[in-house]
Parts: sequence; C-alpha cells; structure tokens
Amino acid sequence: MERATEFLAGGCDSPVRSGWAVGGPMFVQGGASGAYAYDEAGRRYIDYVMAYGPLFFGHTHPALTRDLDARAAAGFVWGTTHRDEVRLARRIREHLPSMERLRFVSTGTEAMMSAVRVARAFTRRDAVLKFAGNYHGHFDAALIDAGASAGDGAGGIPSGVRRDVLVARYNDLRSVDDAVSTRTHDLAAILVEPIAANMGLVLPEPGFLEGLRERASRWGAVLIFDEVVTWLRFGLGGAQRRLRVVPDLTALGKIMGGGVPIAAFGGRAGVMSALAPQGAAFTGGTHGGNPFCVAMAHRVLDLLESNPQYYADVKTLAARLAEGLRAILSQHGLPYAVVQDESVVDFKFRAGAPSRNFDDVRRADTSAYAGYCHAMLHRGVLLPPSQNEVMFLSTAHSVEDVDATLAAAHFGISHDSKAMS
Ligand SMILES: Cc1ncc(COP(=O)(O)O)c(C=O)c1O
Repeated sequence: MERATEFLAGGCDSPVRSGWAVGGPMFVQGGASGAYAYDEAGRRYIDYVMAYGPLFFGHTHPALTRDLDARAAAGFVWGTTHRDEVRLARRIREHLPSMERLRFVSTGTEAMMSAVRVARAFTRRDAVLKFAGNYHGHFDAALIDAGASAGDGAGGIPSGVRRDVLVARYNDLRSVDDAVSTRTHDLAAILVEPIAANMGLVLPEPGFLEGLRERASRWGAVLIFDEVVTWLRFGLGGAQRRLRVVPDLTALGKIMGGGVPIAAFGGRAGVMSALAPQGAAFTGGTHGGNPFCVAMAHRVLDLLESNPQYYADVKTLAARLAEGLRAILSQHGLPYAVVQDESVVDFKFRAGAPSRNFDDVRRADTSAYAGYCHAMLHRGVLLPPSQNEVMFLSTAHSVEDVDATLAAAHFGISHDSKAMS
C-alpha cells in the first residue's frame, strides 16, 4: 500500500479502486482465475467486480488464453488496415445493423468521446444532453454529473465545456424538455446508457428511450447509445435490439475484448461520413484496430455465437443470487429492492422501489454499503468498492459460488443492520 501511494498517483489508476467510496484499505490483487480474485497472500475471493464488466467469461477462459504466443508472433500492432478488422466490423454489423460504419479504438472513453465529436461535426452544433448518473468515460463533457463513483469530478474541466453540456434526469422526459428548452436548435446529440449500470442498475421505463428517439429526430440531433457495458452483456444485439430503439450512433467496449482493450464507435453511414478522410472531423489512435485485440474480439464473438446457452445459464445464476439476497434482506426486515437483469445484480441500502434515476440513488445509505462491502470481503467475497457499481456475474461463476456468497451475505447484512441500529 505504501509503495503504491509512493509511486502511483493516489495509489491507483482509477479513483474507485482506491476504495474512497467505502473507506478502509484498497484491495491489492495478487492474481485471478475463473470467478476468483486472489490477494497478495493468496487468499481467494469470489469476484463480482469482474474488472467492472469486461469479464463475461471470468478471468481466464481457456478459449481466450490459448495460443497467445502464436498470436503475438504475428505482431501486436501494425498501424495499418487489415482483413481481420474489416471482418470484425462486418460481424459487429450483423449483430448491430445500426452500425453501418464503425471505427475501432481502445477504450470506452475514446469511443464515446469520438461519437460526440462525430455528432457535433455532422450537425455543426455544440450542445449535448446527458443524464445524471450515466457514466461515459473520463473525457471533459462526460464527467459532468457522472455516475460510476466519479465524485463531482469537477477539477480540470473548462467552464466553456460546461456551457454546452445539458443534464437531465434519467427516466424523465419532462426534465429532458426542460433541460433542452432554449437549446433545441443547437443540440448536437443526446448521450444515454440505454440500460444504466453506473448508478447501480437502473432500467429504462417503457417509453423513455422511444421518447429520446423521437425528440432527437424532431430536434435534428444525433441519438448516441452508450453500449459499452450493455453490448454482449445483454445479448449479441445489445440493448438496442432488446428494447427495439435504433440509435444513430453507438459506442461499444468492455466485453468485446474479453479483457484486452478494444472498443468501437459507429452508426449511420451518413453521420459517420463526417469523419476524415471523407469529412472534416478527426479521430485516430496508434492502437486502434490492432491485430492482437481484434483477434481477441473475434474469439469473444466465436464463443458467444457458438454457445447461446451461456446467456440463459448466467441469467439463471444471477436470478438465484437475487432471490437469495431478497430472502436475506426480508429476514432482516430491510425493505430494499434487489434488481437483476441478465447477469447483473444490484441492490441499494435504501427502502422502497428500485431506483429510477440518480436522485433515488443518492438517497441510499453509503456508510451501510461500506460496512457490508468490508464484511463481505472479510468472508471472501469481492464486491465493487462503491454503491454506484453493480455485481457482474460471469460464465465462470458456479452455483456453489452463489450459495457461498449468500451465506456470506447473511453475515454481511446482519452485521450491517446491527451497525445501523
Ligand atoms: C457505460 C460506460 N461507458 C463508457 C465507459 C468508459 O469506458 P473505459 O473505462 O473503457 O474508458 C464505461 C466504463 O466504465 C462505462 O461503464
């Protein structure tokens, strides 16, 4: 720990990892395998952080780790266009037909930042609308009122950027109309997580995304779906196929690399033609579309296309975890809503219905979560060190892991309720 803070700024690469939202020492990892993380002493933890989303297959799926020497022998990065990335773009378009043209980058941040650039260049407008509690990465505009434990993230963001970022409440179309009222003529894009996973798990209410689609079209703005978490987590067609709302642009990341950094943005051919060399907007990147990460993304799609039962299996496991948590909470007289959708599970230390927006999430008891999180760690379960994050299950988790987690939660939740009383 001391070494970490001596050499790494704040001891980590991303503030949520420091544990600032739950207090106590940060988790220093020594290794990982399947569904498990290990600390430096070799102690095993059932891992629900799963690197904040990318590890749908757990840490070390053999189909992803095999023959990497052979891959590496062909080179990691070429800096040129190649057949495999064209084939990957084609495979993505088969699953997400709205992505008529796309471009590869390395991180979700880059994907969203680039999508916003394209939208502004295409519309020749400046303003963007986003939702409080949605996280789109750490570029300037995205950090305003972001979720994902970004804090207020205010430092280093020029006031000029703020002028062009309008913020509305998730699941609240009236707040969208209010936020945009004087800027409809100037609105370049609406940015949204179609299923929000950075303020806990918040599902879009019927009509919300449809309302955004209709408004974006009416106002001449570009609708950008941030599917960095949801694509592949919620099926090969992502949130857009499931919810039947077609965005103009989409950002992808996380699971698509199976753990290595590859992401993409793309959408309507006409909108994407705003990019150089056809148009005037520039995006680029040394590592964009590198053959190593592209090969890994092909492996991820191979696995998911040839094993459709993965989704049903992980969903069943997640439902078992959610049901078990509901039973434990009710035994302790805690009326908290447990939300589960596909392989994502979440609950907040707050009585009442599931959260609809960031205002609801802010009312949760963060110190109760902190106590729970530490009690679970003590019992061998690694939870995200912030209540804004969610639990991710993977194909590597087993029924035994879930049942061991529930046994720990029995202790963790009673520990918490005692602490609260
Ligand atoms: C929805 C969403 N968009 C964008 C990002 C940024 O992705 P990255 O951390 O790869 O830059 C994240 C990261 O958590 C995310 O959850």
